[in-house]
Amino acid sequence: MAQPEKLISLLRSDARYICGEELGTKAGISRSAVWKQIELLRRYGYSIESRRGLGYKLTAHTDIPVPWELAKILCTSIIGKQIIYRETIDSTQNLAISLASKLGSDGAVVIAGRQESGRGRQKRRWLSPKGGLWLSVILKPEIPTARITILPFAAALAVCEALKALGVAARLKWPNDVMASGKKIAGILLDISATADQVNYVVIGIGINANVDSATISARLPGTKITSISDELGWNTNRLQLTKSLLENLEGYYLGIEHRARGEILQKWKKNSDMLGRKVAVSYKSKTIRGVATDVNEDGSLTLLTDKGCIDVVSGDIRVRY
Ligand code: BTN
Repeated sequence: MAQPEKLISLLRSDARYICGEELGTKAGISRSAVWKQIELLRRYGYSIESRRGLGYKLTAHTDIPVPWELAKILCTSIIGKQIIYRETIDSTQNLAISLASKLGSDGAVVIAGRQESGRGRQKRRWLSPKGGLWLSVILKPEIPTARITILPFAAALAVCEALKALGVAARLKWPNDVMASGKKIAGILLDISATADQVNYVVIGIGINANVDSATISARLPGTKITSISDELGWNTNRLQLTKSLLENLEGYYLGIEHRARGEILQKWKKNSDMLGRKVAVSYKSKTIRGVATDVNEDGSLTLLTDKGCIDVVSGDIRVRY
């Protein structure tokens, strides 16, 4: 048992104050190590009161998806079998990529409290302050490389459904943005290592603006409309429960990805999007194509009906006219 985990289970087992000496003896560590770990646990989101002469008492649990709490509640068979948590990291995506080729199996999840160099699509930065949910999942699907294109749809759908379960009116926007009130609430990033016929790994990066002040993020990203779960609902959400629901949804889709679920994923994605049938403008590099969005396809492309006929666009940023 990792040390903070041991200490938290001791504090949880007793409603009284427990003195540092008793905690140290039971955990097999010194009193100063107890003090250090209490500080660490507080940073991990637990409220622990301390009283001179009495000791320590746990007064509130964390909502941060620290590995030992998440592992206890997560009902999955692949995703989350290994959970890595960092208070601060450059990017969960970078750590996950560096681990991906070393790990034999798939399903490891890297989670961070904040990211200093979070990455978004098209080499944009992704602001990731404390309070958000920033994670990357390592997958090694045994499917032909060409079929990976369904994974971003599956991931966006998993996020969308987790948000809807909280009461957020989440909608999907091609290629894989999750929106609420017409603003971006979550984003998905895929890093893939594959040859023509074999996938080595896929790292799915998911960023959800959970309990963050979206005005502060928007101010630093002019031109981007941002929202967060706390701004949509008016209260903070429990990120531990959100992570559980997100990873369970994702695994549900992942398990079916090799065979049956592909069509189902696409259908559900379309149902959760309100952009089909609308006039859109898709910009990629310096080019903009305008038309009516008529379909999204298994290869990840978007079909536009333009004045020159139907065009499939494979990448870009979309503006939807409502
Ligand atoms: C987008 O541009 O919409 C994709 C954003 C993806 C952000 C997530 S946060 C966790 C993971 N780590 C990163 O550096 N990026 C992804």
